[in-house]
Amino acid sequence: MIDALAATPAITRRADYTPPDWLVPDLDLDFDLAPERTRVRASLSVTRNGTHDRPLRLDGDGLVALAVRVDGADASWRMDGPALVVDLPGDAHSVETEVEIVPARNTQLMGLYASGGILCTQCEAEGFRRITFFPDRPDVLTRYRVRMAADKARYPVLLANGDPVASGEGESGRHWAEWHDPFPKPSYLFALVAGDLAANRATFTTASGRAVQLGIWVREKDLPKTDHALHALELSMAWDERVYGREYDLDVFNIVAVDDFNFGAMENKGLNIFNSRYILADPDTATDYDYDAVAAVVAHEYFHNWSGNRVTCRDWFQLSLKEGFTVYRDQQFSADQGSAAVKRIEDVRGLRAAQFPEDGGPLAHPVRPDEYLEISNFYTATIYNKGAEVIRMMATILGPQKFRAATDLYFQRFDGTAATCEDFVACMEEAGGADLTQFRLWYSQAGTPRVTATLDHAAAEARAHLTLRQTVPPTPGQPHKAPMVLPLKLKLFGGETAAPLIEERLVLLKDAETRIAFDGVTERPVLSINRSFSAPVIVDTNRSAADLAFLSAHDDDPFARYEAMQQLMLDTLVAAVTQGRADHGPVIDAVANTLADPALDHAFVAEAVLLPSDSFIGDQLAVVDPEAVFQKREALRRDLGRALEAQWRTLYESVRANRFEYSPAGKGARRIKSVALGYINAGGAADGPDLAFAQFDAADNMTDRQGALTTLANSPSDKRIAALDIFYHRYSDNGLVLDKWFQTQALSTRADTLDAVEDLARHPDFTLANPNRARALIGAFAVNQRAFHSADGRGYRFVADQLIALDKLNPQTAAKLVPPLGRWRRFEADRATKMRAELERILAQPGLSKDMTEQVSKSLD
Ligand code: PHE
Ligand code: ZN
Repeated sequence: MIDALAATPAITRRADYTPPDWLVPDLDLDFDLAPERTRVRASLSVTRNGTHDRPLRLDGDGLVALAVRVDGADASWRMDGPALVVDLPGDAHSVETEVEIVPARNTQLMGLYASGGILCTQCEAEGFRRITFFPDRPDVLTRYRVRMAADKARYPVLLANGDPVASGEGESGRHWAEWHDPFPKPSYLFALVAGDLAANRATFTTASGRAVQLGIWVREKDLPKTDHALHALELSMAWDERVYGREYDLDVFNIVAVDDFNFGAMENKGLNIFNSRYILADPDTATDYDYDAVAAVVAHEYFHNWSGNRVTCRDWFQLSLKEGFTVYRDQQFSADQGSAAVKRIEDVRGLRAAQFPEDGGPLAHPVRPDEYLEISNFYTATIYNKGAEVIRMMATILGPQKFRAATDLYFQRFDGTAATCEDFVACMEEAGGADLTQFRLWYSQAGTPRVTATLDHAAAEARAHLTLRQTVPPTPGQPHKAPMVLPLKLKLFGGETAAPLIEERLVLLKDAETRIAFDGVTERPVLSINRSFSAPVIVDTNRSAADLAFLSAHDDDPFARYEAMQQLMLDTLVAAVTQGRADHGPVIDAVANTLADPALDHAFVAEAVLLPSDSFIGDQLAVVDPEAVFQKREALRRDLGRALEAQWRTLYESVRANRFEYSPAGKGARRIKSVALGYINAGGAADGPDLAFAQFDAADNMTDRQGALTTLANSPSDKRIAALDIFYHRYSDNGLVLDKWFQTQALSTRADTLDAVEDLARHPDFTLANPNRARALIGAFAVNQRAFHSADGRGYRFVADQLIALDKLNPQTAAKLVPPLGRWRRFEADRATKMRAELERILAQPGLSKDMTEQVSKSLD
């Protein structure tokens, strides 16, 4: 029978939170593992929480109870939809259940599933209920004892959370292992793994002298690619001790890499499970970008041991409590490993690429949402990246010492509990001595604040006035916004001498409008504002192209320097699109200056000279014609390539013959090499494709090889076919590199990309069943502003077809790919109509998942 309620899934609201009716201090799990049939026996010790007479309600998802016993005797129970309900007479009982599940058929990759011969689990947010009946909510903290048995030949390694306590041989080729996790944890942190795995091991000695056995578990053939991840783990452990005073707390810390994974990685207590793309790295197969991502994700998951596991979330509305804070921590960690300025530039670029559009579109939600249909849809750039910016702002307001005192207080006060964002802010206030009443709006108001900064100079009075105004745009469900606290770092430079006129200061803009006077300003001042991107806002200023060029050459904050160049480029491109033409001269001169500045390192220069992306340019426009944006951007790229050809070539030659070395300098050189190659080709140099092919061919590392391949994939040259072919055959047995092969083609700016991508979707190596592969082709194509927005609407139809197919396998991964179509309002009428029509077609599919229903219907509202 079809449950009528299933068709209209219920909304969960933050305001409705109530503490759990029953607690589960202890849980024994017994797994009889096999891909086609796994039997799960659970024994829960339950205690009534408070005075009430409500039954025990255990969440389930697709589970059938084979047996239910209370205190060892058969009990009466009933199903309420997917949940198991048991009436219990007393205040403490033991409840046993038994179910069977089929990991091999789990295509959603939530719960217990099979990935390339490995059995593994993914429980966040609500996957545990697909394994066993349980109060699957983060505020129920339980001590786990796990026993698992499996065929020894197929699954020689058996891992779970905590410490291993026993193991032995069973009958008919089976063996078993038992693990205990002494730390009470919510069910979303449960994990087990069974597989034919080998470990790269090390011992880490903590600050207090305890030895921790580290293991990175992969298939034997991948072991040589795990040194970077293992090293990153050791660095992370030492860093968290040094910077936050946080020590690791178990005797073992294991990481397992699997090929099929919905997200990047998962912080299960003592047993992190990773998407293999964030573990495996060697020079031949991973780019510098991949190396950095591996280190950042290893750090992120490790840091969760405190910010997430020791202190967890009361409910899923508090998700940013662990994610925003942990992203902030991993950003700080990465900044400490190399160039902090370049790291900040990359983080801001990511924020603008993913979070700003989210905040300005139909899926906008606060950092602490008020309601959801499907929690999986809230693992967003807003929760993670805007959440990290919110923590960063508090750190800026408090200063480093008080911020550390506040995080110490937070960890100490809430250790072993499930906390809220409010708890965190209260610690910031208490230990930081700050009043964050108004600041809390960052948690409740969605939308990117907009600041207008107008600087006036009265030369005769030697005085400057800065007028700051803020507005926060309406977002779905939030038509009216109050002014927020915006921490803006600013500084004034002399427009002629480049000397600082007013030293950097932190202004907390709290009102809708503020006027600040600066005395003793005799020279014409130039405003440097939102330095180091101190607030995640959009700033409009009355600075001329000349002022921006000046700052791009003279500002002493590298981020502000980058930002001035970006703004100059953006102003130029927006003028080109809206007025049909623009003067490229100022951008060319500013880029020439940057290239000629001996004080700048390669990594910074490579970031500074890159044009803003098509989509970021589009975000500045009232109505987007993506083809026009593409053409104007290409025109500026071509002019930069041509006008500065000699400089690009000199730069290119200076690093061309470098041998691979994994170091900040080596990375910077490779980055500038591919950027220069791109500009030489954009300028139309006759030998451009040959240069690219030579780089592709001679490369001793993936960064150079993929950099050259990207240039070729965009080029009219037929060298591109040869290069793609060579690349494919060289790496045909390496899934992660094949993802790059698909992705590079899906991102091509060539006019025939849509045809190529339709062919690739029929390629024997393409499959929607692997999330990395689906994202490499469909996800990449959907952000390719030119090809996806093909005027005939074929790109939209293609993506919609793929999402409909993917939803049947893996709704979570499908739902994450909806936002590009959901941006229809931003585009010119003809495209907007076609995009809408595809969303409507998706919504009309029978059996559409809750995940997709939420994303698509919100996008249509
Ligand atoms: N909690 C994981 C992280 O950010 C992300 C994740 C969420 C992974 C849900 C899987 C499922 O570290
Ligand atoms: Zn996380």
